[in-house]
Amino acid sequence: MSVVVLISGRGSNMQALLEAGLPVSAVISNRADAKGLETASARGVATRVIEHRGYAAREAFDAALADAIDGFAPRLVALAGFMRILTPAFVARYAGRLMNIHPSLLPAFPGLDTHARALAAGVKLHGCTVHFVTAELDHGPVIVQAAVPVFAGDDEASLAARVLAAEHRIYPAAVRWFLEDRLRVEGQRVIGRGLSESENTLISPDPER
Ligand code: GRF
Repeated sequence: MSVVVLISGRGSNMQALLEAGLPVSAVISNRADAKGLETASARGVATRVIEHRGYAAREAFDAALADAIDGFAPRLVALAGFMRILTPAFVARYAGRLMNIHPSLLPAFPGLDTHARALAAGVKLHGCTVHFVTAELDHGPVIVQAAVPVFAGDDEASLAARVLAAEHRIYPAAVRWFLEDRLRVEGQRVIGRGLSESENTLISPDPER
């Protein structure tokens, strides 16, 4: 029933999963200096470091990563700010049980620097997406999205903070639904058993805030 979380840095989404009481059995990082490792250890969660620099080929790194993950026999692998592109073989190995959180309303702004790009594009709504991972970067079936407003006075930091608060809300929810067997994928769509859009899978900004 457990979850292995992959991180590369701060680990605030990983922390949100822990604080939600989800059964995280291990946190694995590709960087030894990832701050989130300390957070996980302090809470008694097992940590592992698989440094990507130690591997000449992406395939070899992914194989070592998969070995470390499989040592915990998780039901779900949750990417939480894991800054490595995964090989198709890795993605196939965890098909249907590999999740990611991305800081934009996909399919808008896949890739990096999403908040700066949203500001530059002048969008009025921005947000975050939890999705299943497929071979195409940031394109898998969407489980839940939260939208936040973009205000005239926003800069990258203020917008990022608003989105991050929404991330911490939707990622634990999506992981819980998965563990409760409530998510079914049909093509590109995720059908959530007993989940309502208004209460669960489509979070939109409160105009009063
Ligand atoms: C988050 O914005 C996440 O959506 C993105 O990377 C950031 C990681 O932040 N993939 P944290 O490490 O979870 O604090």
